[in-house]
Amino acid sequence: MTAGRATATTPVDSEAIPLAQPVLGSEEEERVLEVLRSGRLSLGPMLGVFERAFAARIGVAHASAVSSGTAGLHLALRAVGVSDGTEVVTSPFSFVASANVAVYERARPVFADIDPVTLNLDPDAAAAAITDRTAALMPVHIFGYPADLPAFERLAPPIVEDACEALGAVHADGMAVGARGHPAVFGFYANKQMTTGEGGIITTADAGHKERIDSERNQGRAPDMGWLDHDRLGFNYRLSDIACALGLAQLGRLDDMLAARAAVADAYRAALAGIEGLDLPCPDAGGNRRGWFVFVVQLPRGVDRDACVRELATHGIPSKPYFPAVHLMTYYREQFDHREGEFPVCEDVAARSIALPFFPQMTEGQVARVGEALRRVLQPAHRA
Ligand SMILES: Cc1ncc(COP(=O)(O)O)c(C=O)c1O
Repeated sequence: MTAGRATATTPVDSEAIPLAQPVLGSEEEERVLEVLRSGRLSLGPMLGVFERAFAARIGVAHASAVSSGTAGLHLALRAVGVSDGTEVVTSPFSFVASANVAVYERARPVFADIDPVTLNLDPDAAAAAITDRTAALMPVHIFGYPADLPAFERLAPPIVEDACEALGAVHADGMAVGARGHPAVFGFYANKQMTTGEGGIITTADAGHKERIDSERNQGRAPDMGWLDHDRLGFNYRLSDIACALGLAQLGRLDDMLAARAAVADAYRAALAGIEGLDLPCPDAGGNRRGWFVFVVQLPRGVDRDACVRELATHGIPSKPYFPAVHLMTYYREQFDHREGEFPVCEDVAARSIALPFFPQMTEGQVARVGEALRRVLQPAHRA
């Protein structure tokens, strides 16, 4: 459906398909009930049990559970030394939290353009953005595709990985995303590969980082300190034991959920094959493996995206522009004087992207319905 061809088509099927949906079962209920019955709802034993299970799953020494992915990114930046007046080089094609966490510390988020294929921060562009004020590099494993960490590791600044979308992803060298030892942050919001409702976790190989993060998530209190004794500034970024119980149960079904997401992605590739000008998520290449999170496509150039979203909705199919470029958001334009044209690859991709319904329980029939509807919207010849 190009501009001027945005007429509504006859709905294929009016039964709405959700955009995302968690998988929850009796294991989750049992684990949560266990915590409720114990009476230890926060800072209880489930926190450590969940953290150790998650660290073992990734293959890294430490994990610290926190109240959100954003909280985790904030603490991870502090742990590597981001502070007032420093800079954090990151991607403008991400969820806004990746940049916001630098601003929390009065540091400046410095954006660099993305790779047009993987949509991840381009290491050459990041290298060119480094200055003597750069305190951290924050690659984002966008849509679960591994960022080129070996390339970033050749650059000098400390790395914090935004892995909020990348649970289950694997680097070309076989190492799980989150296992390289830099602080890496995963998110557990309800649309993620696994969920605790809200929540996040930081993995790291550095015991010093773990100690500082654990203290700062709990108002700056060291584990051996008395109640209400605080030796540094901290926050309330704790994850409750109830949420950790949910996380432990979700971790137990993670492989099945990841496999189901990958199967839905395969079905989408088949359903959307051959639509001219439509860009699909890049296939795994060079040994990198995506941890499937969302199915985001870039519409052909010249298509009226808003009209396309509206027309899909008439078929009971929700879709969302995803992501808008961070540097062009009102706050970032006003605070940091950004404008169009600074990061052309990101801006082109952001202007054409939509997220389609995507969740592990999605049936082949539902995927086919989305594919057929999108084909009708984009290729008028296929209209009934
Ligand atoms: C790339 C990215 N970074 C950070 C976050 C923030 O995570 P949360 O919503 O758990 O704070 C998200 C979550 O949606 C994300 O997708």
